[in-house]
Amino acid sequence: MTTILITGGCGFIGSNYARYVSRHHPEYKMIVLDKLTYAGNPENISDLKNNPNFSFIKGDICDEKLITEIVPKVDYIVNFAAETHVDRSISEPDAFIKTDIFGTHNILEAVRNSSNVKRFLQISTDEVYGSILEGSFREDDPLEPSSPYSASKAGADLMCLAYWTTYKTPILITRSSNNYGPYQYPEKVIPLFVTNLIENKQVPLYGDGLNVRDWLYVEDNCVGIDLILHEGKLGEIYNIGAGEEVTNLELTHLLLEMLDKPKSMIRPVEDRKGHDRRYSVDCSKLRSLGWKPLADFKESIKQTVAWYQANRAWWEPLKSGEFKEYYKKQYRQMV
Ligand SMILES: NC(=O)c1ccc[n+]([C@@H]2O[C@H](COP(=O)([O-])OP(=O)(O)OC[C@H]3O[C@@H](n4cnc5c(N)ncnc54)[C@H](O)[C@@H]3O)[C@@H](O)[C@H]2O)c1
Repeated sequence: MTTILITGGCGFIGSNYARYVSRHHPEYKMIVLDKLTYAGNPENISDLKNNPNFSFIKGDICDEKLITEIVPKVDYIVNFAAETHVDRSISEPDAFIKTDIFGTHNILEAVRNSSNVKRFLQISTDEVYGSILEGSFREDDPLEPSSPYSASKAGADLMCLAYWTTYKTPILITRSSNNYGPYQYPEKVIPLFVTNLIENKQVPLYGDGLNVRDWLYVEDNCVGIDLILHEGKLGEIYNIGAGEEVTNLELTHLLLEMLDKPKSMIRPVEDRKGHDRRYSVDCSKLRSLGWKPLADFKESIKQTVAWYQANRAWWEPLKSGEFKEYYKKQYRQMV
């Protein structure tokens, strides 16, 4: 029986991917390992708990003993576990270096010392390339990360590539653009703005709002991840993006329109430090494996908005406690 280990599977993309695996590979034994930080929520995968092939371990990828015990028992590993919020990396970078670099290295060491693991897929980000004003980054372009978050992800990527070059550790890397969809922690721009607007609160728009992001529906990312895990070439990097580039201002206007709110709900705030102007990735390498994004941007945003409208019980508790304190410090308003 094939066993897959999904680390960080209680977060946004990891939980969507765990659900994807249960649908598309029901015969796989699936282990979700997650530290359950503020961003990890067991509710995100509560529908999987009655599946006899599913098990959950509360654990830290930095825990050498635990990782050394689990890794030799699995065939595939997909590492989503990470600290992921750029703003938090600017105020408190330590946890990013620990989890994103040291934790990934811990898994790499365990994979290197196990003959069982066939493929270790590291989930990275397009942010490792830095900003690009024109054109799109290819997988062999140099890395120029701007934030402590993207620098820690770049460090993990380089470590994976070094393990491939030095030990032939069977790694693969995906670098995707910004994802949206259900179960995204409400500190990230789309769920933050949607839930604020549902609550009739203003939305904090950074700087002039003209930063460009390429939005990828999480389900399309899951399809790409799964294809790369099974059919990607070992030692290789694959970009994943939908080519749906919009400015933050355009995105905000779209959300206001969908929720029938006036433009006065926008509250301009001081720009993020080191804010990358534009991200863009060339996905021809992944497209040559047969992948293409299926989601229609406006329709999928609409479905995402509808999901947050229908699931207040999921996000309301997340916007209290620690979140509220953090948010108050960050913007000193709108709480
Ligand atoms: N969300 C995006 O738009 C996006 C885009 C590109 C790449 N990525 C990458 O995808 C991955 C998942 O992102 P996400 O948005 O789902 O993040 P998320 O913050 O929603 O989830 C991260 C998960 O990792 C867990 N975790 C954190 N530290 C851990 C540790 N030390 N050990 C075990 N578990 C730990 C958390 O509890 C949480 O469940 C990350 O590696 C991120 O860098 C995300």
